[in-house]
Amino acid sequence: MEAYSYFCNTRIEMGIGNAKKIAQILEPFNVGSSILLVSDPGVVGTGLVSPIQKALEDAGYNVTLFDALSQNPRDTECIAGAALFNECEAQAIVAVGGGSAMDVGKAIALIGPNGGSPTEYAGGIRPYTNIAPIICVPTTAGTGSEVTRSSVITEQATHRKITLKDALLRPLLAILDPELTQTVPPAVTAATGVDALVHAIEGYTCKVSNPISRALGASAMEKIVSALPEAYRDGRNIEARFKMQEGSLLAGLCFGSADVAAVHCLAEALGSLYDTPHGVANSVFLPYVLKFNAQEDIQMHARLAKYMNFAQDSDTESLAIDKLIIGIQELTENLAIPKLNELPGVKTEDFDKIVELSVLNGSTKSNVRAINASNYRKILETAYHSEN
Ligand SMILES: [Fe+2]
Repeated sequence: MEAYSYFCNTRIEMGIGNAKKIAQILEPFNVGSSILLVSDPGVVGTGLVSPIQKALEDAGYNVTLFDALSQNPRDTECIAGAALFNECEAQAIVAVGGGSAMDVGKAIALIGPNGGSPTEYAGGIRPYTNIAPIICVPTTAGTGSEVTRSSVITEQATHRKITLKDALLRPLLAILDPELTQTVPPAVTAATGVDALVHAIEGYTCKVSNPISRALGASAMEKIVSALPEAYRDGRNIEARFKMQEGSLLAGLCFGSADVAAVHCLAEALGSLYDTPHGVANSVFLPYVLKFNAQEDIQMHARLAKYMNFAQDSDTESLAIDKLIIGIQELTENLAIPKLNELPGVKTEDFDKIVELSVLNGSTKSNVRAINASNYRKILETAYHSEN
């Protein structure tokens, strides 16, 4: 009989063709007439952004585009975007893209009106206040950032990933349109899809979870595992894309009022050192962290195997856990996601640094099983030397 609270004030609009209707969907919110459109060069290059910009301009908005951001976005990029926000007297942010664009969009909505740097907010030096309205239009199915209260930014000077986290950072509006994800290349579909799956698993299992997050997470796991192989094989399959975007949304709603855990702590450390795509970095650690965590709560991890349809109701708990680990390994292998020792730049000499960054990560304490530096090192070594 645990006490808990769950809160999400984001209006969610999910539907095929929603991107074309952005101005119509946005109208009742009265966000002002000047918009900073935040995206990244890759997404702009796919041609997804200009029709959205045009739809907004045709409806009378003044729109300025900011797309100078990297895959693992930097604090310096957020500060540059905030300067442009003020220069064009923007009143709202429309972020179109994956996690990078949405996370930078959130940071600009905070820093534009208030000044400062991401570090100052993450470190509690400046208060989260007076944040411009944020509208998110995800173009991948993975991050869930369209409904979460956090934004993960890399400090350029230290390579450290910092997390801006506050209820006010939740977008006002999330506009989801599975059509936008149909052109996502298979490798990105695979990596972002596994990221979404990890959000559901960690949001469900972490120490600060709650019954609402767990219900959302269980549903997300089932959807993602069933749809991801098909979305990867045939990106034009709108049914698979719809299910994946829904799975990613549910996973975002799951961990958004809970936390992530050890997989993300390792993945963020890896990403900050080598710029590894976030979903790939999650994938390389997932089976090993699950194996470590399962010993803390066998019953709960056996349930995960059943939600993902890797195990049957009649399986014993220990068989279900074996099937969970094998199922996850086969899933990521069939998605052709590289292993830790195949990733560019990764070397064992950096393991101390990866361990140190993982321990420092605020989500370490949320992991279902207490985890320390030597546990992290063991997981890293096992993942690196594994043949599977
Ligand atoms: Fe993630």
